[in-house]
Amino acid sequence: MSHLFPTYARWDVTPVAAKGAWLTDNSGKVYLDFTSGISVCNLGHVPDQVKQAVEEQLNQFWHTSNLFQIELQEEVAAQLTAASGLDLVFFANSGAEANEAAIKLARKATGRSKIITFFDSFHGRTFATMAATGQDKIKTGFGPMLPTFEYVSLNDWKALEQTLDEDTAAIMFEVIQGEGGINSGEAEFLQKAVELAHQKGALVIIDEVQTGIGRTGKAFAFQHLGLDPDIVSTAKGIASGLPLGAIIGKKELATAFSPGSHGSTFGGNPVALAAAKATLQTIFNDSFLDEVTKKGAALADMLETALSAVPHVKKIKGKGLMIGIELDGEAAPFVTAAREKGLLILTAGTHVLRLLPPLTVTKEEMEQAVDVLADVLK
Ligand SMILES: Cc1ncc(COP(=O)(O)O)c(C=O)c1O
Repeated sequence: MSHLFPTYARWDVTPVAAKGAWLTDNSGKVYLDFTSGISVCNLGHVPDQVKQAVEEQLNQFWHTSNLFQIELQEEVAAQLTAASGLDLVFFANSGAEANEAAIKLARKATGRSKIITFFDSFHGRTFATMAATGQDKIKTGFGPMLPTFEYVSLNDWKALEQTLDEDTAAIMFEVIQGEGGINSGEAEFLQKAVELAHQKGALVIIDEVQTGIGRTGKAFAFQHLGLDPDIVSTAKGIASGLPLGAIIGKKELATAFSPGSHGSTFGGNPVALAAAKATLQTIFNDSFLDEVTKKGAALADMLETALSAVPHVKKIKGKGLMIGIELDGEAAPFVTAAREKGLLILTAGTHVLRLLPPLTVTKEEMEQAVDVLADVLK
């Protein structure tokens, strides 16, 4: 009997080793991993430069507290601010915690209470980020929810205009909804939404927990659309698999997060930061990001060619190496079928297969994955 709460419908795969895009289980079966730990292992499993940085930090010190000057925090904060165009960083341990910080910061900085989020969004599992999430299935049984959040449909301009008012502290969105089904916000809608929020004195929080750290071919997905966020949240890929989250915000918000107003014992842990520094040194680099864009376009093309005649497949969507294959029915059985043939993929929503290969994926690995997908979908 398992001694774990059954919060996950776990697969019958017990990893014993993983390197690059490949994962080996305890029966010796080798899988091509197009989940990357759900957009976490963006440099593949156990990247050498990150491993070395972590080992060096393990030999120095592991934890002090945030009462100390932690040089690595300054260094990683400088990487994040340079890549995002924002100014100040707060470190947390996860995406949900980063979003909690963003919500608290927006409320304190504006003195307003409401946050507008979008249907089919996903922002985390804490009490506030669960309430922020625009999906009923995440909230069932945990009510009543915090009354702070109001929801509108992505790309529904009228609804947003009607909902955003003088008590709105922030609008909060993913540029591409990951868990909700690889749903992209339209460029014009998001650009106008940011403008409207600012006109009304509300802040803009962009949740880049899944889309950030190079996943879509830019450091952050909002950069494809030239958006002007006040706060960006990030986690997942930031430290290649060690737990770390962060918000990056404008310097005008500094006074709202003064000593004692927010904190975390583990947030900004030196070992996680050593991993982050090495990860970001590789990913926040124009030629690396251009390669992600090229690979994403190549993979989308291969999928179009291999799957366009398959009746179940409605469309290929997403950006960079965050790709959705929208089906005309339940996606989950195809995830199981692909796994049996040695390819690990995910669902997004109920009808979408989600591919999140490592950003270091090779052409041969992409071809191999497309062959398995063509096989199982046919
Ligand atoms: C967009 C987005 N925000 C927040 C989260 C929550 O992150 P975490 O699981 O690290 O708390 C996720 C996780 O899937 C996510 O995709």
